Amino acid sequence: MPPFAEARVDLDAISGNIALLAERAEGALVMGVVKADGYGHGMVPAARAALAGGATWLGTAFIAEALRLRAAGIDAPVLAWLVPPGEPLTEAIEAGIDIGVGSSWVVDEVVDAARRSGRVARVQLKADTGLNRGGIGPADWPDAVAALARAEAEGVATVTGVFSHFACADEPEHPATTAQLEAFHEALAVADKAGLRPEIRHIANSAAVLTRPDARFDLVRPGIASYGLSPIPDLAVPGLRPAMTLSAALVGRKRAVAGSGVSYGYRYVTDRETNLVLVPLGYGDGVPRAATNRGPVLVAGRRRTIAGTVCMDQFVVDIGEDTVRPGDRAILFGPGDDGEPTAQDWADVLDTISYEIVTRIGRRVPRTYTGAVR
Ligand SMILES: Cc1ncc(COP(=O)(O)O)c(C=O)c1O
Repeated sequence: MPPFAEARVDLDAISGNIALLAERAEGALVMGVVKADGYGHGMVPAARAALAGGATWLGTAFIAEALRLRAAGIDAPVLAWLVPPGEPLTEAIEAGIDIGVGSSWVVDEVVDAARRSGRVARVQLKADTGLNRGGIGPADWPDAVAALARAEAEGVATVTGVFSHFACADEPEHPATTAQLEAFHEALAVADKAGLRPEIRHIANSAAVLTRPDARFDLVRPGIASYGLSPIPDLAVPGLRPAMTLSAALVGRKRAVAGSGVSYGYRYVTDRETNLVLVPLGYGDGVPRAATNRGPVLVAGRRRTIAGTVCMDQFVVDIGEDTVRPGDRAILFGPGDDGEPTAQDWADVLDTISYEIVTRIGRRVPRTYTGAVR
């Protein structure tokens, strides 16, 4: 019997999605992006599935995430690209993790850590080409490049990559993408002139893999698309398969008279005599409270809307005169095969992105896995 609440993850879907993206990338290498617990799918199984699908690199935000991959026995190249002060740089260097250097502060820290450890630090320099978030901007880029070139000459670091990240690739007509590509070419030229010879140059997220062949360079970094969700809501990508299905067994059913207020605050009131079922998932599990009276859910073969306030652990669905039996489940989202909503449907209703829907599913919901590679 499945757990009463379950986020079931189809690892074959992740492998298949990566294979499809690799085909789209036409010869560029693929980095499976597995940060934030593999966008909520489980980092280690997602990483294994991505590698099985043809990814040769893995990407995380933080070094701690990359170290967890190593602790699980994954020895593929890993890049961790967000390095706050006090991160375990020496451990990262010793574990052969590529450290993404996205601020001038980090350059000296990495070089010091490499000197202390006696090992050569693998570094990937991140250029800010217009996102104005992480990355070294044009004003500081020549100095950062020169410092890394000196570190290479000293034998304490090797610059394995130069990369950047797009601001608006999910809006294919947005002029920022072309401007950022130009800025990236300039940053690469500065690095080249300083004698840096990175193995991989990369900038493409999922949206760019699917829409910008000119952004592929040596490697692409798809995240959301590898989990089967389109980075561009209006862009259907044939062959992508959503990997996560979130469901829960119904706790019970009760008869309610017309005019019954339902759940905290009585934000839903039955307009007829009806049947209510209880679903044991709530905002404590990552179901947004904003889904009150809005969240779509499949119960008894039909799509319905959450009735009333989403509580910490539970919510209610009005099923009218339909029947349910013990063991029947509510499906919040999945691939859509049986008429269930998708994570994109949830995102549309809640005015957010599918990334947030899958990533926020909490620790209390067990992940279960299907597929060949676990
Ligand atoms: C630096 C970097 N590269 C790649 C990705 C993957 O992006 P997406 O999930 O849109 O493909 C992310 C995710 O935010 C990122 O921060």
